[in-house]
Amino acid sequence: MTKLTFFTFIVLATSISFIFLETPPKSFYHTLFISDSFSDNSSIANHLYTLTKRPHVAGSQANADAAAYVLSIFTSCNIPSHLTSYDVALTYPVSRSLTLKSSEKTIKFGLFQEIYDGDPYAEVANEVLPTFHAYARSGTATGPVVYANYGRVEDYATLREMGVNVSNTVVLARYGKIYRGDIVHNAHAVGAIGVLIFTDKKDYGGEKWFPDDKWMPPSGVQVGSVYDGIGDPTTPGWPSTGECERLSDEEVDEGGNVPLIPSLPISWADGDAIIRTIGGKVANVDWQGGKDSPIYRVGPGPAIANLSYEGQQVISTIQNVIAVIEGEEEPDRYASLTFNFS
Ligand SMILES: *[C@@H]1O[C@H](CO)[C@@H](O)[C@H](O)[C@H]1NC(C)=O
Ligand SMILES: *[C@@H]1O[C@H](CO)[C@@H](O)[C@H](O)[C@H]1NC(C)=O
Ligand SMILES: *[C@@H]1O[C@H](CO)[C@@H](O)[C@H](O)[C@H]1NC(C)=O
Repeated sequence: MTKLTFFTFIVLATSISFIFLETPPKSFYHTLFISDSFSDNSSIANHLYTLTKRPHVAGSQANADAAAYVLSIFTSCNIPSHLTSYDVALTYPVSRSLTLKSSEKTIKFGLFQEIYDGDPYAEVANEVLPTFHAYARSGTATGPVVYANYGRVEDYATLREMGVNVSNTVVLARYGKIYRGDIVHNAHAVGAIGVLIFTDKKDYGGEKWFPDDKWMPPSGVQVGSVYDGIGDPTTPGWPSTGECERLSDEEVDEGGNVPLIPSLPISWADGDAIIRTIGGKVANVDWQGGKDSPIYRVGPGPAIANLSYEGQQVISTIQNVIAVIEGEEEPDRYASLTFNFS
């Protein structure tokens, strides 16, 4: 969840078991990578399946279990490995709400991800946290909606050229092209008071979706951090251990890397419902949606969005799994390969 404090060497974990064998032909590795059969316990598919069977958000017991699993795989391959724990500032959602009021109707969004026929994760659905942005600002934003494409700096330049004033509006942007934390940051920089980020089928969709295809279903939501810095926001540049010194909330805000306006990630279906209420000028061709989408307009409004998010910050223990494989050439030099398993 945090970008860098929370990494592991999972990529190694999945390929390590062959290292001590005679070098097998390349096609062997290839087979393990693409195998969708779980019968070989050392296949990528099998490890991935095991690690993704349950949700395991950073700081949870399930995530500690995932770390222990990765450690056990390394250890069983005779790779010197260990866990290092850190006590980091994480955020979890307490409440969220989103309504959209137009002259015709008020839409109250449920903000929840549906379970689909054949969904292999249905039985653990209640372990999934409500959709949220980690490190999102708590607060309420009420204003007309402006559609801002991917929320890049150049997208706001385009809006300005179109005569759209983003100040005091709630921005609707779509995922893709830039980091979600920058989407929130850029919106704040032009005076927006809240941000909704949806997954557009144009960028992340096809005819079918999970569990029949790789794409997220219409109610699926991409979550993740909106923190723009590295690691734990309360310990920039030093390790988050035990009773270490930490920045206060005010100092964190002044650092400029945490968002200063609230944001919510939303699904394609919810984004589509909002788009349909936005009036104003027709957006450029490259701002439009995919096949079967309505015409995207930029707003502002006329519908008024009310976005509300409240999160809580906790100091929670997370683990890094560290495995060291000594190289044959220049063994005193380190090349680090990291992966995030939250
Ligand atoms: C593969 O993993 C399963 C489940 O952990 C275990 O029951 C089985 O014995 C393993 N098979 C081999 C060949 O190690
Ligand atoms: C944009 O709108 C705000 C009020 O929401 C107003 O204060 C500001 O002057 C407007 N800017 C321009 C360039 O019209
Ligand atoms: C916006 O939503 C929040 C949370 O549901 C609510 O407390 C607030 O009164 C709403 N604001 C407006 C202007 O409707």
